[in-house]
Amino acid sequence: MTENHTLTVRDNRTGEEYELPITDGTVRASDFNQIGKSADDPGLALYDPGFTNTASTRSSVTYIDGDKGILEYRGYPIEQLAEKSTFLEVAYLLIHGELPTEKQHEQWVHEITFHTFVHENLKSQLQGFRYDAHPMGMLLSSVGALSTFYPEARNIHDPDIRHDQIVRLIAKMPTLGAWSFRHAQGKPYVYPDNDLTYTENFLSMLFKMSEQKYNPDPRLAKALEVLFILHADHEQNCSTNAVRSVGSSQVDPYSAVSSGVAALYGPLHGGANEAVLKMLKRIGTPDKIPAFIEGVKKGEEKLMGFGHRVYKNFDPRATIIKKAVDDVFAVTGVNPLLEIAQELERIALEDDYFISRKLYPNVDFYSGLIYEALQFPPEMFTVLFAIPRTAGWLAQWVELVDDKEQKIARPKQIYTGDRRLDFVSAQERWK
Ligand code: SDX
Repeated sequence: MTENHTLTVRDNRTGEEYELPITDGTVRASDFNQIGKSADDPGLALYDPGFTNTASTRSSVTYIDGDKGILEYRGYPIEQLAEKSTFLEVAYLLIHGELPTEKQHEQWVHEITFHTFVHENLKSQLQGFRYDAHPMGMLLSSVGALSTFYPEARNIHDPDIRHDQIVRLIAKMPTLGAWSFRHAQGKPYVYPDNDLTYTENFLSMLFKMSEQKYNPDPRLAKALEVLFILHADHEQNCSTNAVRSVGSSQVDPYSAVSSGVAALYGPLHGGANEAVLKMLKRIGTPDKIPAFIEGVKKGEEKLMGFGHRVYKNFDPRATIIKKAVDDVFAVTGVNPLLEIAQELERIALEDDYFISRKLYPNVDFYSGLIYEALQFPPEMFTVLFAIPRTAGWLAQWVELVDDKEQKIARPKQIYTGDRRLDFVSAQERWK
């Protein structure tokens, strides 16, 4: 232990002092348990709703510096990966911890390309949903249902079995996402086309109609590659925490990932991109922005797409996405909501209410504008987040399964309810 890297804690109830080691900028919560411990006192615990200042794991997958706006996957800056890599190469990097050799890359792409089909029974399951079912509800259910087709996935410590499930999940998420989209539109499901790249195939399954072969616009496929890379992982965010917590029970990866989809669905997390578009549409015109901002300041609603638990200056992904907006609009034409978004951002960045709370545009603020320009309805935006984030969830899940220090997640509580009440039977109570 580094000299003097300790915390001296004095319990003023007893005058006792404790020396707690400081490691990697943290103190072990369990070291506090000795304080005040006795036959009738369980000892101190730490209280941290929302885990605002609690580390749950050691990880080498993703590094974020919220003050400096730094995001790195396995040490590589997000700006370089977004510019020079592909989503499947980044998925390999996140999961295996290093960039693939040519042979590894070729095999990885081949395996994923040839696992994009799902069992026809799963197609029937999706067809059972209401015509207007939210695609995220369909995705959440179908990912969990995948666990019933591959019962061997429960062998989470077998590296070969684990590899097969990782390939299947990365390969099948676009298929399930695209079919959920087609279902909501009442259009026939389009089967994967193995001649296309990962994002081209996704566009084909989304938008192919009567043509023999879908011809994706390479600029849109490239924009999706960038967006998928930007959304691939983000250390211990809400949905990754869900995947790790559920995964800590040693359930199969399909069930663990479906819990991540469920967490991402929420409007404070991945659902924010859908909420941003609805917010911009509700504002409608730039002259309505001041009244909207006043409503936010009164706490009547949040400025969706702004703020972040970690980034307190700028979200580097938002900076990159703003550039991708121009590339997409060159193909699709400018989204009229862009003007409202830009004016909203300008006002928010000058207003002390937002500055004092360190609220800056996050990854969700501009991504929705691109998705809408790509003809996606708002309900699909979070599906477009879940597909690439599956690679990050799986990288974090593998790290959890292999981490000898991890246990089943079971936090403590502060009990605030009644104690030792005498039960009165219904007959007595209702007399
Ligand atoms: C993602 O964690 C990740 O890494 C997530 C993510 C990823 O890649 O996995 O980056 C993806 O989820 C991005 C965030 C998308 N969500 C939104 O855009 C929804 C709007 N933003 C928020 O609800 C909020 O900013 C959070 C949830 C993102 C962060 O919330 P925190 O860290 O718990 O902060 P907080 O709610 O305690 O807010 C601090 C203050 C509060 O004001 P006071 O009570 O002190 O007066 O800032 C206010 C909040 O009310 N505030 C906002 C606001 N966000 C925070 N006020 C108005 N509009 C907002 N957007």
